[in-house]
Amino acid sequence: MRTDKRGDPLDVRRGVPQGAEGRAAELYWEAFADKLGPALKPRARGVAFLAAHMNRDRAVCALRDGALVGLAGLQYEGRSLTRAGRREMIRAYGPLRGPYRYALLATFKEAPGRSELKLDGIAVDAAARGRGIGELLIEEVSELAAETGHSEITLDVVDSNPRARGLYERLGFTAVSTKRTPHLRRVMGFGAVTLMRRPAGG
Ligand SMILES: CC(C)(COP(=O)(O)OP(=O)(O)OC[C@H]1O[C@@H](n2cnc3c(N)ncnc32)[C@H](O)[C@@H]1OP(=O)(O)O)[C@@H](O)C(=O)NCCC(=O)NCCS
Repeated sequence: MRTDKRGDPLDVRRGVPQGAEGRAAELYWEAFADKLGPALKPRARGVAFLAAHMNRDRAVCALRDGALVGLAGLQYEGRSLTRAGRREMIRAYGPLRGPYRYALLATFKEAPGRSELKLDGIAVDAAARGRGIGELLIEEVSELAAETGHSEITLDVVDSNPRARGLYERLGFTAVSTKRTPHLRRVMGFGAVTLMRRPAGG
């Protein structure tokens, strides 16, 4: 058991606990409404889709009193937290809307290299932010990355999220490259995505 910055106990563990898929999906939706909304809306349908297409082993979670308050999705060895493939999207959203919606999601689905473990979205309950939970999640991901033979952790951060970028820089991530995405500004609210990386381990 760890403690957050207020001294409250926090259980940081690997994997989404069985039965917590719905809560994990809600946290993801809250945190990434800009990115996920256009592809998976309306909210109730999107949350249900995420919960139903979740690889529980691809996350590190933070629980307080047994309730999920944060999670970091992971992508490595061809598997990520969400299984939102083209086929699943067509099945859920239909043959006309499914492919377009899949294309929107695919913007963020560049596969990581073999030495990389990709941090595929980190979300902390809005009421619990700023207490060090995000940092604890990233440190656990870093240990997991080293244990699973990866030499670095990578992540994408959008230009509309400077506070998250500030956190990553404080934790030792550096920018590798920036992809401009002006076509996504109207749909998703950001105009560039920066790839960052940090060596795995403590
Ligand atoms: C980014 C996020 C995961 C950080 O989790 P956290 O538990 O608040 O992080 P910590 O307490 O360890 O660190 C706090 C730092 O996170 C950053 N941060 C980013 N957004 C924040 C927010 N809404 N509230 C508080 N801190 C935030 C800041 O750099 C902050 O440092 P500061 O207080 O000196 O400004 C969390 O704020 C969140 O879920 N945000 C919405 C989703 C998101 O933007 N995810 C990242 C996508 S790349």
